[in-house]
Amino acid sequence: MEIKVIVGDITKVEAGAIIANFFEGMERLDGDIATIDKALAGAISQLISQGEIKGKLNEITIIHSLGKLPAARVVVAGLGKKQELSQDKVRGVVAETCRLLRQKRVDSIATIVQGAGIASISPEGAAQAITEGALLGTYSFRKHMTKEAEYGELKQLTIVDADETKLPTLEQGCNKGKILAEATNLARDMVNEPANYMTPSRMADIATELAKSYELEVSILEREQMQELGMGALLGVTQGSRQPPKFIVLHYKGGDSAQIDVALIGKGITFDSGGISIKPSKGMGEMKGDMAGGAAVMAVMGAIAQLKPKINVTAIIPATENLPSDSALKPGDILTAMSGKTIEIISTDAEGRLILADALGYAKKLSAKSMVDVATLTGACRVALGDICSGAFGNNQELIDKIIAAGAEAGELIWQMPMYDQYKEQNKSDVADIKNVGGKYAGAITAAQFLSEFAGDTPWAHLDIAGTNMSEKERTYIVKGATGVPVRTLVNLVTSLAKQSQ
Ligand code: BES
Ligand code: MN
Ligand code: ZN
Repeated sequence: MEIKVIVGDITKVEAGAIIANFFEGMERLDGDIATIDKALAGAISQLISQGEIKGKLNEITIIHSLGKLPAARVVVAGLGKKQELSQDKVRGVVAETCRLLRQKRVDSIATIVQGAGIASISPEGAAQAITEGALLGTYSFRKHMTKEAEYGELKQLTIVDADETKLPTLEQGCNKGKILAEATNLARDMVNEPANYMTPSRMADIATELAKSYELEVSILEREQMQELGMGALLGVTQGSRQPPKFIVLHYKGGDSAQIDVALIGKGITFDSGGISIKPSKGMGEMKGDMAGGAAVMAVMGAIAQLKPKINVTAIIPATENLPSDSALKPGDILTAMSGKTIEIISTDAEGRLILADALGYAKKLSAKSMVDVATLTGACRVALGDICSGAFGNNQELIDKIIAAGAEAGELIWQMPMYDQYKEQNKSDVADIKNVGGKYAGAITAAQFLSEFAGDTPWAHLDIAGTNMSEKERTYIVKGATGVPVRTLVNLVTSLAKQSQ
């Protein structure tokens, strides 16, 4: 879809549909929608008085203009109560509108700057939200389908405003929205891709392609280098699989110093069968998405390389399969992580924390000033928070607060979980420094406590996206399948860290 901003009068735009808004409880029509209503001989006001248009959030009404306007259709999109409007609601209503019009085989639409100037939404923020809503809401993963979709293709979205002076900021918002949505959709593509395609090698290739397109520095560490570095925990997980593991590192340099300001670490298990502690077969296919954290941080690097914040960021993605075989890791085995700590394996299905232990070790070796890891780490987090919030954990409240704020801006909800020392007791081993499972209860927290041992005193935060990474149903700009969480949160985080350090 091509998205652009133009200066003009929406009532004069030629398109398959033009979109205007109506708020719940609005007394009378004014501005663009009043002009449109007049052109339609009062069709909108009639529908309002008859109660068909109420202005409820995501209520979409299509009116055919039958030659009364240059546009073939007028869409009245409900935005709910005016004072309760948010950028996220704009994203949502645009997504819903785009999907409905696509279903009706409309291929070009024009919209007013929905939400601008209302409930403290800036014109730039509104343009960004519209762009994100359109691109995220019309995302589909049809790569392996040989039949054409039943719906058409939305080819063009034009954001129209009469005020010429606003054009640069609207374009800025639109451009930022494009970068963020495209990065999110890249992560979605990677997560939706099945494990026979999305191998560790394929992830490494995508990282190399990203580096080429956006001038990032990339290095892919192979098994021998993992051995040299003593990454015993990661090597333990990978030893049951024929696919060669890849330890992917991407550097973005936007700051003046030589130091890495933030390391973004993403779990890259391209398939999690559980290993010898094999998972039940029902729903196991979902575990193709166990590299979602890795996909997210890779996509973030592509986005920030385009946005160019003044900060140094390194992405680290340990990528491997977790499979059972005669060479696989076994319960009872003891591994030595890069940090020197020994780990007793209780379950080979608690593999994420093992590969992350060595990724954190590597980030510390690079002297990263702060670390954020993202992982589909525990079913327990999904049980606790469902698919609404990601869980946040860490050793640094300031960093956690910034992540939560960055998430709120993106419409990606994050809830902080407790990290009391008392939980550490559950990870104690009788035969090694720590064990990889802390028992039946508080599984998301004991997993995070495990990671904290490897983060040490470096400011660190951990996002458990086991519940939020996939959606079972369509929900505004979230489509079925991979959500691309928390790509937009992390891009916001990086840009806000860069602003603050200036
Ligand atoms: N990848 C899973 C966690 C997961 C579960 C992600 C559901 C997405 C949806 C992780 O590697 C895992 O298997 N965790 C175990 C840990 C347990 C063995 C302590 C779990 O949550 O059951
Ligand atoms: Mn597992
Ligand atoms: Zn896993």
